[in-house]
Amino acid sequence: MEDTTKLNTSKLGTKKYWEDFYSLEKTNFESNPEDTGECWFSDNDAEEKMIDFLMQNLRTHSITEKSTIIDLGTGNGHLLFSLYEEGFTKAKLHGVDYSHESIKFSNKILSEKYPEALDNISFSQVDIFDSEWKPPRFDIVLDKGTLDAIALSGLKLASGKTVVDAYPSVIDKLLKDNGVFLITSCNFTQKELIKIAESCENLKLWKTVSYPIFEFGGVKGTTICTVAFIKQKI
Ligand SMILES: C[S@@+](CC[C@H](N)C(=O)[O-])C[C@H]1O[C@@H](n2cnc3c(N)ncnc32)[C@H](O)[C@@H]1O
Repeated sequence: MEDTTKLNTSKLGTKKYWEDFYSLEKTNFESNPEDTGECWFSDNDAEEKMIDFLMQNLRTHSITEKSTIIDLGTGNGHLLFSLYEEGFTKAKLHGVDYSHESIKFSNKILSEKYPEALDNISFSQVDIFDSEWKPPRFDIVLDKGTLDAIALSGLKLASGKTVVDAYPSVIDKLLKDNGVFLITSCNFTQKELIKIAESCENLKLWKTVSYPIFEFGGVKGTTICTVAFIKQKI
């Protein structure tokens, strides 16, 4: 049977695309401080759904007001700024992205719009597949659209694994036991995301978030999915 977790490559999978993208967003912000850039999947309220999910599941597994949270491929940091605004003011929120421009832009928004959050929110430039990267472990790992972009790169690592195949081990390396991995994707179905994440024996499906269902030609589906996994102690 065809492996549907393999996507065709696209310019959205290149670092250059994201460097140019966030450089432009930063320029727009400099001329209009209200313009903090694109909120990926905003048509589907994905960001609100991810934050609501964490709020509704507070004090379950590792989710607390003081959780340590990492956002992979943070872009303009929008998800972390929104989490802070929605009440995660005691949490430690860290965004990573391989785009230098993304990190420059996120830091600019942080210092200019959220100076009171400088102790809570931070950003660093990291390629999440860099084997030299030795991050601490977090209570919560977030991904909104980043695995989608990664899959479009078609890249393979030195180990010979594709970046999609290697992705679950990055999550495993980042999460504490009982930690939560919450991911939103538009390129993978719920079933495909579960297959990818559970290829790591420590990651187990916890909950899924509902989106409106469309029906076309007798086939039912959603255009986007958000899925939560728990890191189990084996
Ligand atoms: C579709 S954007 C999503 C941005 C952000 N999460 C949001 O929801 O607005 C994908 C992001 O992943 C980042 N990215 C892609 N591959 C990466 C990698 N290997 N390591 C770190 N960041 C990466 C890109 O630079 C870009 O910011």
